[in-house]
Amino acid sequence: MLTPTHIPVLLKETIEALAVQPGGRYIDCTLGGGGHAAAILDHSSPGGQLLGIDADPEAIKISEARLQAYSSSTLLINENFVNLQAICIKYDFFPVHGILFDLGLSSLQLNSDGRGFSFQHEAPLDMRLSSSQEVTAADIINTSSEGELAHLIKIYGEESHSHKIARRIIQERPIKTTLQLARTIEQVIRRGKIHPATRTFQALRIEVNQELVHLEAVLRQAIKLLGFEGRLVVISYHSLEDRIVKQFMQQESKDCICPPGTPTCICGHTACLKLVNKKVITPSPAEVQLNPRSRSAKLRAAERLITQAQDEQYKTIEKLCFSVGVETGGWRKPALLKKLRQAFSTS
Ligand SMILES: C[S@@+](CC[C@H](N)C(=O)[O-])C[C@H]1O[C@@H](n2cnc3c(N)ncnc32)[C@H](O)[C@@H]1O
Repeated sequence: MLTPTHIPVLLKETIEALAVQPGGRYIDCTLGGGGHAAAILDHSSPGGQLLGIDADPEAIKISEARLQAYSSSTLLINENFVNLQAICIKYDFFPVHGILFDLGLSSLQLNSDGRGFSFQHEAPLDMRLSSSQEVTAADIINTSSEGELAHLIKIYGEESHSHKIARRIIQERPIKTTLQLARTIEQVIRRGKIHPATRTFQALRIEVNQELVHLEAVLRQAIKLLGFEGRLVVISYHSLEDRIVKQFMQQESKDCICPPGTPTCICGHTACLKLVNKKVITPSPAEVQLNPRSRSAKLRAAERLITQAQDEQYKTIEKLCFSVGVETGGWRKPALLKKLRQAFSTS
């Protein structure tokens, strides 16, 4: 069982980047221990609403307890964020003022016995965020070919010794536990600044949970759910994630994405985002000292650019945000939902 000890990373910067306002509606796609969610609810009170999503059922349980004081303003869903758009449609939760992704794992998951995320605790090689997923890390380690393993460890772990590691894994199979895998890797790589198993564990976790595939898919969905000047904020923890977020935000903040040197624009692309921070935001030395896990964090934020017609719809939401119904009862009131549906059925 997990205990609530995750320290939210870049908390003040996240609230500023989301421009959290009273009465606003927000989505936290990576609820974790509920730290960012609690701050969003504090700053959006009165009348704020939060849809919280996490693929890990334990994270939902912990957040339910932590956010109890706000139970009438929160909706917590145990789902993978790759289904974000469908979730928002199902629960009538769009458009919103801000969407947050604080990617990766929480300290609760990393420190938990039995999940298999850490090479420091003995556990079955699992690494799934949810037991409803079919493929575990052990399945990948014990059934992939040497070439497939080497490729995976190289691409998702950015590991230069991937071939040596893959060869030794094949020799040692079956490998069933975290420490067995860590020891296998230690046999072929010398200890450096980081533990020799760090990159291989990262690669396996990314593959098991399809992390990069899901991130690419969800960013596009997120834009559509943002209303006028709505903010998209993403905190990433390794270069593969950050590259996807950076390239996505840069591309979507340009009017033309034709290859350089194209004489006239043939892509027809129009910008739908405006970068909030041109330079990536990273934690201060003081934060890193207090919470070493934050050291690799990178925060990027962008604001939705929206057409005049969509703007009109958003004004309806803004009006509703400050209506008595929302301030006293929350968004789930049937009359409010009916108005929302009417406002958007014409779009
Ligand atoms: C870094 S933690 C978030 C911590 C949180 N911001 C807090 O303050 O406590 C990341 C969380 O995202 C969840 N997560 C990662 N990928 C996910 C996905 N594709 N769908 C839903 N949840 C995901 C993990 O289960 C984990 O709980």
